[in-house]
Amino acid sequence: MTEVSGHGAVAPLIEARGIVVAYGALRVLDGVGLVVREGEAVGVVGPNGAGKTTLLAALSGSLRLSAGTVRVRGRDVGRLDAAGRCALGVVRTHQVPRPFGGMTVLENVLTAAMHGGGLRGAAAGERSLEAIALCGMRAVANRRAESLGLLDRKRLELTRALATDPALLLLDEIGGGLTDGEAAELVGTIRTIRARGITIVWIEHIVHVLVQVAERLVCMDGGRIIADGPPDAVLSDAVVIDAYLGAGVHERA
Ligand SMILES: Nc1ncnc2c1ncn2[C@@H]1O[C@H](COP(=O)(O)OP(=O)(O)OP(=O)(O)O)[C@@H](O)[C@H]1O
Ligand SMILES: [Mg+2]
Repeated sequence: MTEVSGHGAVAPLIEARGIVVAYGALRVLDGVGLVVREGEAVGVVGPNGAGKTTLLAALSGSLRLSAGTVRVRGRDVGRLDAAGRCALGVVRTHQVPRPFGGMTVLENVLTAAMHGGGLRGAAAGERSLEAIALCGMRAVANRRAESLGLLDRKRLELTRALATDPALLLLDEIGGGLTDGEAAELVGTIRTIRARGITIVWIEHIVHVLVQVAERLVCMDGGRIIADGPPDAVLSDAVVIDAYLGAGVHERA
């Protein structure tokens, strides 16, 4: 389901074509094409090792492509690193959180607002406090990041990304291991973020949580996109069931 933009159409927010990422003979991404338009919320699923995290890294500029192109609003960003793409509004979170451990939550978020978001002084503080409130981090704002549990570290990843004022937020498994209540809270947060006009690409294994936000699902396997479309269609696709969802879904369906 590749989209093709016609003459005069608005360029997609991000457009990856023929992306290959190889480590020696291993093609971790093997010709991936993905088009995401402004305002979309796209969920990404697939088995462990499918290449989901590598795809986010390729889009956000944190690794070098072996082949292919990434365009942001029509502009080839192949020469831009993660900081350069952040300046264009493309920001990722990390599957394994990477806070500055010795800094407080607020200091971490301020750093993102200043270095990623280009703000100074009161504006950086305001943006940071807003992101902290939106992500439910007020109660831990003055705690050192290294003292946080994994869930709060993941939430801090989201808060830091948000503080850069992204146009496209690339989320990598921020919801694993949540209780039902925490998952509902996270869905509320992501919906609010989306309502602010931020486009979302969200990798998550908890599909029932993902589909509460995503109106489009992409399934990866073996470094390729094997399905891309409305969640119902993707989740009932025999190829997706075989590669990812397994026999249990046949039984439940
Ligand atoms: N730097 C690297 N060098 C060699 N192989 C790598 C490197 N980074 C990732 N890989 C391999 O690429 C494949 C895809 O990894 P990736 O982390 O993108 O998968 P994923 O879909 O995010 O998996 P998960 O659901 O477990 O997070 C894996 O087989 C992984 O071992
Ligand atoms: Mg991953």
